[in-house]
Amino acid sequence: MSNARSPGDAGSILIVGASRGLGCAMAAEFAGRGWSVVGTVRGAGTPLHALAAERAGAVEVETLDMTDHDGIRSLGERLAGRAFDIVFVNAGIANRKPSDTLAEVSTDEFVEVMTTNVLGAMRAVEALGPLARPGGVIGVMSSGQGSIANNANGTNDVYRASKATLNQAMASYGGRHPERPMVLMAPGWIRTELGGPGAPFGVEEAMPQIVDVLVAQQDTPGLRYLDRHGKSVPW
Ligand SMILES: NC(=O)c1ccc[n+]([C@@H]2O[C@H](COP(=O)([O-])OP(=O)(O)OC[C@H]3O[C@@H](n4cnc5c(N)ncnc54)[C@H](OP(=O)(O)O)[C@@H]3O)[C@@H](O)[C@H]2O)c1
Repeated sequence: MSNARSPGDAGSILIVGASRGLGCAMAAEFAGRGWSVVGTVRGAGTPLHALAAERAGAVEVETLDMTDHDGIRSLGERLAGRAFDIVFVNAGIANRKPSDTLAEVSTDEFVEVMTTNVLGAMRAVEALGPLARPGGVIGVMSSGQGSIANNANGTNDVYRASKATLNQAMASYGGRHPERPMVLMAPGWIRTELGGPGAPFGVEEAMPQIVDVLVAQQDTPGLRYLDRHGKSVPW
């Protein structure tokens, strides 16, 4: 008798925004643990496509621009009938010049950041969250920068405002769905295109910890704002 496990035996996750960076690393980490992964991308030839080719049968690629409301609805329709252990909304952007105050950033750039990090993320949660099985986790990539309590230095105003608003919107969602396990993840400052080369942590070091925390939230109702060590972040 074989002990070999098939992809998906360990669990299943839908990751919105998995083309590269933390989302793709998350897909690789879950696939490596025997989970089946559906990850979304916007373009062709991304690192997630390469992962899906390497891990045929374990990683599926779907297409979604999170700012496209109809696109979110159609992804929900394409995946209807499937149940995931975790639905995780990872996609996010930062404004190009982090030192810009709200007085300095252009209206277009402010709207782009808020439309992606708040409106797009929450529409994805509303439309795709119900694909999580009962007891399955709905997760969203927040940031420690979303913490109002920890904002002592007054930097990154635009990005901070977007993640704090995302946290508030998730608190409302959590209030409407108290039976659901939910997590706002503050992963730490990690070297990606968004995090930049000066970030203190590499993806290889951080991602197993992030994944451990997400997996541990299953079947425990309520919304938690956690760092990658599983410690609560002050709101
Ligand atoms: N790195 C850090 O230090 C850090 C710290 C705290 C929180 N975070 C958060 O972690 C998440 C991932 O960041 P990262 O560091 O991995 O950044 P990244 O390398 O720049 O990757 C961003 C990801 O988001 C996707 N994305 C952006 N806008 C999208 C949209 N409108 N629709 C669909 N996908 C979209 C990108 O897809 P494309 O390839 O199509 O552009 C890419 O997959 C973000 O929410 C970020 O705010 C990062």
